[in-house]
Amino acid sequence: MQFQVIRAGGARKRTACAVVGIHEGTGMTESARRLDRASGGAIARVIRRGDFAGKSAETYPLAGIRRGPAERILLVGLGPKSAFGRKAYRRAVYAATQWLAKSGATSAVTFLAADAVPGLDSYYAARHAVESVSNALYRINDLKTAKKPPQPKLARVGIVVPDVAAADAERGVRDGRGIAAGMALMKNLANLPANVCTPSYLGEAAQALGKEHRSVRAQVLKEADIRKLGMGSFLSVTRGSEEPPRLIVLEYGGGEKGDAPVALVGKGITFDTGGISLKQPPGMDEMKFDMSGSASVFGTIKALATIGAPINVVGIIPTCENMPSGRATKPGDIVTSMAGKTIEVLNTDAEGRLILCDAITFSRRFKPKAVVDIATLTGACVIALGAHYCGLFSPDDRLAEALAAAGERADDRAWRLPVAEEYAELLKSNFADLANVAGREGGAITAACFLWKFAEGLRWAHLDIAGSAYLTGAHKGSTGRPVPLLTEWLLHGA
Ligand code: BES
Ligand code: MN
Ligand code: ZN
Repeated sequence: MQFQVIRAGGARKRTACAVVGIHEGTGMTESARRLDRASGGAIARVIRRGDFAGKSAETYPLAGIRRGPAERILLVGLGPKSAFGRKAYRRAVYAATQWLAKSGATSAVTFLAADAVPGLDSYYAARHAVESVSNALYRINDLKTAKKPPQPKLARVGIVVPDVAAADAERGVRDGRGIAAGMALMKNLANLPANVCTPSYLGEAAQALGKEHRSVRAQVLKEADIRKLGMGSFLSVTRGSEEPPRLIVLEYGGGEKGDAPVALVGKGITFDTGGISLKQPPGMDEMKFDMSGSASVFGTIKALATIGAPINVVGIIPTCENMPSGRATKPGDIVTSMAGKTIEVLNTDAEGRLILCDAITFSRRFKPKAVVDIATLTGACVIALGAHYCGLFSPDDRLAEALAAAGERADDRAWRLPVAEEYAELLKSNFADLANVAGREGGAITAACFLWKFAEGLRWAHLDIAGSAYLTGAHKGSTGRPVPLLTEWLLHGA
């Protein structure tokens, strides 16, 4: 897909399709009015007839326009002007793209960023447009054998912006393309079934990413290396599985050589059966998405490499399956983590924290200036926040605020929940330093507190993405989140 910034004041060829926004109630935007005048009043006639109300994400195509800059005009609803902002803007771009994809159009020019969007400057207006177009065009690389619907032909999108905004919009397009590429990589990995996307498959995907980008170095450690590192907690999760585990290290070096990196630690459980503490059958297939945290690390590093961001980031991915078997870890087993702390595994289904605690300890080797772990960690977080916000945990107020603010700007939001000693105390064990579970109450918080105990002295935050990383039901599939939040934070907030 090609995106091109177009100056509103510049001369241009007649385009096949122009996309313009209409507000509900108050009617035409400034650019719609201009286009209407140039096109002989075609838009005004439609609105006067009452054929198009401008409801959020409503679309209405006008074909056979004889005069003016476009052969066709696609009207798209922006909703009421009083409520207009980032959300309605993104919805409008998304809806217009869906229409364009269905129509078979190969190119279009959007005027949605030509007028001011409350809360968005030209950089973010262009970036959100690129992300929304790309999201709307994403197709799951499925294994259906019947004849597939044709891929959308849309290949070129022009983004009209005020002349003075062109340079900022160019940067927005560049970063938007990077984020979209990162989200697509995350979705592609997370949507794969667990019999394809195994820990060794993720290892190969890491090598491939390293080959693709000169700024990315991939290292894939095997079981013997993981044992040498002393990761007894990580290894206790993989015991029941026939698939060998991997510890993947992805180093993105866009900054100066000596600059301390940010570490991103991603949960890479390629399938979570619960182990001996076996899960119930309904919805268990969705546990193929339990490597979404690791996929978001892949995606964020892909985004940074595509953009050429001037920073250093190290991605650390512990990946394995959580399976029951005669060799599997049993409830009550005690394991020794890389940090030396002993852990009583009361519930083998609380496996994410067991692989992450060792990965967080491992991250210390890189002397990181911050460590953020990303994990589909708890069902409790889904109950607390649903799908729209991910859970954000950190004892560091400035780090938590920077991540929350980045999520806001990126339209990939996170809501802070507490980490506090009172909750950490619930992880007491009679037999080991820590138990891996507390009671049901505050389950997302006690899980975060478990990780906190391994992050002493680090500038650390945890994102629980169990609710936001994938959709269930008819639209089942990875969302590509939190690649936008993480990339935004690394570009403009870290
Ligand atoms: N991967 C799950 C968490 C999860 C649940 C993600 C639902 C997405 C949707 C995690 O490994 C898990 O099983 N957590 C347990 C923890 C419990 C045993 C303390 C849970 O949430 O039930
Ligand atoms: Mn589990
Ligand atoms: Zn899990």
